Amino acid sequence: MANMNNIGLDVNASQTTAKELNDLLSNYQMFYMNLRGFHWNIKGRKFFELHVKFEELYNDALIKVDEIAERVLTLSVIPVHTFSKYIEVSEIKAKENVTDGEEAITSVLEALTILLSKERAILAIAGDANDEGTAALMSDYIVQQEKLVWMLSAYQN
Ligand SMILES: [Fe+2]
Repeated sequence: MANMNNIGLDVNASQTTAKELNDLLSNYQMFYMNLRGFHWNIKGRKFFELHVKFEELYNDALIKVDEIAERVLTLSVIPVHTFSKYIEVSEIKAKENVTDGEEAITSVLEALTILLSKERAILAIAGDANDEGTAALMSDYIVQQEKLVWMLSAYQN
């Protein structure tokens, strides 16, 4: 079995998966910073509940950032770690000066749509590469975020 890395996966396949994980990582970093902005800048009658909710979401995003980066390292690839690269790569764009709760929730839902689509693509790539570790991580994120989309959508109505 040639070209296996130290966890027994095909080197090329792992590099392909890690590249997509790095893309996901960049998107999560932008999502994280947007959530901090919403937490700080939100105004209005729902301030207290949204301020707390965005804190919960950015703490969760921060955990995922670390998990994704460490999965990239487990696949023997260097995780992206500069703001310049995140901005260059991320499909989720920086949101500035959002003070309206509805606009912030809509932005979170749009970001989750992007993240879910990327996670499903990585799940498929990881499955093809017999990379159960990455697949399991993506499965967990997908289950959690689909539920979050339901709850945020319910809140909007
Ligand atoms: Fe805070």
